[in-house]
Amino acid sequence: MERDKSSKPPKRAGPAKKRQRKSNIAKTALGAEPEKRVRNKAAPMRGEAQPRALKVNVKTSKDRELSSTLWLRRQLNDPYVRRAKAEGWRSRSAYKLLELDEKFGLLKPRARVVDLGSAPGGWLQVSVKATGKKGHVVGIDYLNMPAVPGAGILEMDFLDEGAPERLKQMLGGKADLVLSDMAAPTTGHKSTDLLRIVALAEAALDFAEDVLAPGGAFVCKVFAGGAEGELLNRLKQNFDFVKHAKPKASRSGSAEKYVVAMGFKGRG
Ligand SMILES: C[S@@+](CC[C@H](N)C(=O)[O-])C[C@H]1O[C@@H](n2cnc3c(N)ncnc32)[C@H](O)[C@@H]1O
Repeated sequence: MERDKSSKPPKRAGPAKKRQRKSNIAKTALGAEPEKRVRNKAAPMRGEAQPRALKVNVKTSKDRELSSTLWLRRQLNDPYVRRAKAEGWRSRSAYKLLELDEKFGLLKPRARVVDLGSAPGGWLQVSVKATGKKGHVVGIDYLNMPAVPGAGILEMDFLDEGAPERLKQMLGGKADLVLSDMAAPTTGHKSTDLLRIVALAEAALDFAEDVLAPGGAFVCKVFAGGAEGELLNRLKQNFDFVKHAKPKASRSGSAEKYVVAMGFKGRG
């Protein structure tokens, strides 16, 4: 993970708090099942060696496309998918936010958090759990998802006119953290897909700059080769600290990574 040389870490948050956050996270998230609150003894704790699971082989079938077979095979053999199921997280993505939080100390008790592209709700669960009863968590997705206790959910396209305003109303105050794990469906046309990725990230940053409190943080999924130069320039200008991160839970073959910007200074 490479530190951006042109920007300084903020004084109040960042890797310096890593040790303190680590113990907190182990207790609040990974040791207990989030929805049933029962520790699954079969699920390894962070750092423990994971028992080797039997590999599931999914055969190709004439009723199923090859891409679906490969997806199913990958899901069934993915340790994070199995672990998320055992520990009660809605998605394997929950581990990406847990890792980012452990590294950067993003989620604080009582914080106001906005989660853009929140279905099926893993990041919402993590945010609710970490911010506690006095936290305020809202999410948006155009896909329907079951309620996440403790979070407000807006079922709407974030790019629709009026969506940012509705989210702001639900938030009821300035945000401490804006998360975006949004990913537009791919078209197969590379340059179109890249443009859509950048457009989504820029819309997320526009929103973040509008709602973040001074000192707030922004986390956004981006893709390697996604021409995020302009986005990075804005982040460096408006935040104290900007860094890229690729959590272990993010598939190594995937071009996805996250940009983490902390210490919001206001729109430059
Ligand atoms: C990778 S998933 C998010 C997973 C989520 N972080 C979790 O932990 O469960 C990306 C989500 O972004 C949503 N999304 C993409 N573009 C969007 C848009 N314009 N408005 C709202 N949601 C969007 C998709 O519907 C999808 O559910």
